[in-house]
Amino acid sequence: MIRVLKVDSLQPEPALICIAAEALQQGKLVAFPTETVYGLGANALNEDAVARIFKAKGRPNYDPLIVHAASPSWLERAAVEIPELAWRLAEAFWPGPLTLILKKRPEIPDLVTADLDTVAVRVPSHPVALSLLQASGILIAAPSANRFGRTSPTRASHVMTDLGDRIDVLVDGGETDIGIESTVLDLTGSTPTILRPGGVTREQLMAYLGEVAHQTGGSKEGSQNSPGMLLQHYSPRAELVFWIQTDKSAVLKMMRQAAEEEMSRGKRVGILAVDQDLHLFSGLPVHTFSLGDETNLWQAARRLYAGMRSLDEQHVDMIFVRDPGENGPGLALRDRLQRASTKIVR
Ligand code: TXA
Ligand code: MG
Repeated sequence: MIRVLKVDSLQPEPALICIAAEALQQGKLVAFPTETVYGLGANALNEDAVARIFKAKGRPNYDPLIVHAASPSWLERAAVEIPELAWRLAEAFWPGPLTLILKKRPEIPDLVTADLDTVAVRVPSHPVALSLLQASGILIAAPSANRFGRTSPTRASHVMTDLGDRIDVLVDGGETDIGIESTVLDLTGSTPTILRPGGVTREQLMAYLGEVAHQTGGSKEGSQNSPGMLLQHYSPRAELVFWIQTDKSAVLKMMRQAAEEEMSRGKRVGILAVDQDLHLFSGLPVHTFSLGDETNLWQAARRLYAGMRSLDEQHVDMIFVRDPGENGPGLALRDRLQRASTKIVR
């Protein structure tokens, strides 16, 4: 039976955090909020507990996990040969949505890192995640707390839907702030390389690093060169049609036409869009979910996964979304939408 602990997201009650921390120490599975999305945590050094994460999610063993630490001073518990740059990035961006790929310490089980000789580490900034790390004193391995391949959870109710019957504790700290996952930055090569765009933007990293490479694309299951960067991921149940085109009014017109056509065939169509776009669909019997004002892409990021889940709950057959561009969080949004899509219209 799952135990749900409702905590204050800014000042989590120590007595409740203590219950979750003890569960982690006992090798149990604890879902908790981070500033990005909810994580499904277990003691990173307890191989049996980590194995339970993979089982609960239905996640293949070749997809490595992120290890969460309470402070940069814990970095040496997970990694070796830590470059100077890692310490400087830690100072600039931690606690926060940046995950660093470093050489792994032998004590970290191979199951956590999918047999790689590298490990992913981050210090989350959410008060609930931080207090859980501090109270338990252990490194927490935690992927996003969703069934494998589905959208990441940004609310406790999402975790409940996906994993409620498979985990021990759910710490409910309300809605997460950023809404998309951390940026994964590989520091083991000659140039720092973004493996997954996320909560820290490319612009922020470039301002700091000067040069940063971005490994785009993904690969089919099992054969990826960047493990876990699966092409098909973050998907709603409905078909997701992703419209990539620069001429905004032309693409909106095409979307409206396509929506009308699909509906005439009896399909239920969902539109996931900024308020300014949604205007153009008024009068049509489409299902809509607002990503907020078009000038605020961070708001779109915060609402993206909740929007996919909400439209799924309304049993739409397809969801139409337009490319947000690549500025700021746009790059991460585009990445998730591309991976979530069943069809891309260029
Ligand atoms: O914001 C986040 O990062 C959330 C919260 C819970 O911290 N976690 C998360 O975990 O998104 P997950 O498991 O859904 O995604 C982890 C990503 C995967 O894309 C995986 O391939 C990559 O990190 N990763 C982990 N270890 C790696 C490694 N050693 N080398 C390359 N990529 C790695
Ligand atoms: Mg995930």
